[in-house]
Amino acid sequence: MTHQRITPAELRSKKWFDDVDDPGMSALYLERYLNFGLTREELQSGKPIIGIAQTGSDLTPCNRHHTDLAVRVKEGIRDAGGIPLEFPVHPIQETGKRPTAALDRNLAYLGLVEVLYGYPLDGVVLTTGCDKTTPACLMAAATVNIPAIVLSGGPMLDGYHKGRTVGSGSIIWEAREQLAAGEIDYDGFMDLAAASAPSVGHCNTMGTALSMNCLAEALGMSLPGCASIPAPYRERGQISYHTGKRIVDMVWEDLKPSKVMTREALENAIVLASSLGASTNCPPHLIAIARHMGVELTMDDWQRIGYSVPMIVDCQPTGRHLGERFHKAGGVPAVLAELIKADLIHEDCLTVNNQTLGANCREAFTHDRDVIKPTDDPLLQSAGLMVLSGNLFDNAVLKTSAIDETFRKRYLEDPDHPNVFTGKAIVFEGSEDYHQRRNDPDLGVTEDSILFIRNCGPVGYPGSAEVVNMLPPDSLVKQGITSLPCVGDGRQSGTSGSPSILNASPEAAVGGGLALLKSGDGVRVDLNKRQVDMIISDQELERRKANLVLPELDNQTPWQEIYRSMVGQLSTGACLEPATLHLRVVDEKGLP
Ligand code: FES
Ligand code: MG
Repeated sequence: MTHQRITPAELRSKKWFDDVDDPGMSALYLERYLNFGLTREELQSGKPIIGIAQTGSDLTPCNRHHTDLAVRVKEGIRDAGGIPLEFPVHPIQETGKRPTAALDRNLAYLGLVEVLYGYPLDGVVLTTGCDKTTPACLMAAATVNIPAIVLSGGPMLDGYHKGRTVGSGSIIWEAREQLAAGEIDYDGFMDLAAASAPSVGHCNTMGTALSMNCLAEALGMSLPGCASIPAPYRERGQISYHTGKRIVDMVWEDLKPSKVMTREALENAIVLASSLGASTNCPPHLIAIARHMGVELTMDDWQRIGYSVPMIVDCQPTGRHLGERFHKAGGVPAVLAELIKADLIHEDCLTVNNQTLGANCREAFTHDRDVIKPTDDPLLQSAGLMVLSGNLFDNAVLKTSAIDETFRKRYLEDPDHPNVFTGKAIVFEGSEDYHQRRNDPDLGVTEDSILFIRNCGPVGYPGSAEVVNMLPPDSLVKQGITSLPCVGDGRQSGTSGSPSILNASPEAAVGGGLALLKSGDGVRVDLNKRQVDMIISDQELERRKANLVLPELDNQTPWQEIYRSMVGQLSTGACLEPATLHLRVVDEKGLP
């Protein structure tokens, strides 16, 4: 597609390693890279220098096998005539990092921007996988805008326990209910958790990790089919090799993220997200990627473009299957082929293999109709995220595909007011408060309660916590009430199938409407109008506003303090706001 090619003299790395105008500096740059055995010939004969942004480590088990895959990436780079240089990215482990991995997405982003900008790299392979590693890498590639290609690590194999599938994360939410109801004990709980993680790789559910890697593929940033190949499969090693080969050609073609991650490509990603029943973490991540690319993408776009799209992929947490089966069914290319048939995809978007998305995927075949449905026989019509507003927040999302029969019957089928329900608010001041008081009988939680949690957004937590899917008190669970409507300014795990109303922006900690709510207030949820309101008088609302005292924020680390001083809201991607002003660093400002 792109025909303009750059010459060896135009390689960015030449300014470091072979600058005839400044031999002193080039000698300084060059000599230290020779000390582990590289030769002058390799660094000075006009070969692209390719970075491998390594997100895997012992601290990041979901991505750890990337340290092995990098061997095949390097072989691909070498075979295509490039020189590979692998370097570490700040680790982000979704389940291991306290207070939350979300705090570190922007830190890894900043670190990677500095590396890509400040070192002699002509292109980069982004190793992605665990939830925040994918957006962090794509955000950095967007800012620096040098040729970049995504290599997903792939999901774990499908997990089984006593003959049935158990998916990462999702089984934890389910087992919590079983433990609360006294159906399993501590050891039974741990056995279920371990069974969901049978091999190397990232979460095997359609949680944030698999969702974001699928979105990266739909954006055109990885080779076709890359997202879903299970981590231990031979194809994973093979696509690592092809990814390494391809990035070298991308350098010669000057195929940069700005040519791939266009407005249309971002719209494709929204459509794919709806069709997958993807994680509620996708909107903030995709919006952050867009903003660093200089493309305006809003929650309104998610509603306008994504809501009406049918869900055609039957994966947990909202469906039945897991990543390995999804891969065998055809993965992202097969889903895109179905969406293309329904005219829902911009086919002309350029991808990293220098072909359009349409050319890559149009003919892709679905091998398993249990997993991937045609759009005219979907699992659910209009299955995208619903974007809500009202006097509690300007923006929040509801994963409509997570509304199950029980929830629908209990809350949405009043014949006089379909899709409207009211309830009494029970308000928790963060996850600690929730865990302490969940079973407190004085709270008076009933079937008609709506559970609220606040001070869990980017500023409040800090980083925004995955806590909105709250379990009712054990007394209700034992009566069979395993879920109540939940609302909050935090997020929920992408592996949770709860129909919570979450990502509420602005958050309580910066004075959003949620901060004004009191336990016992009536709240009306109207899905027809996409509105959520506390039912209190205007005078009372004004009185509460006047008396509002924002919570004191306690920072445990310097980064928490810096993050809180600069971070925006989930509805606009929870970006470091000053960082969004520095677009296309390399394009606009050249080298130092
Ligand atoms: Fe890392 Fe799910 S915890 S991918
Ligand atoms: Mg998570």
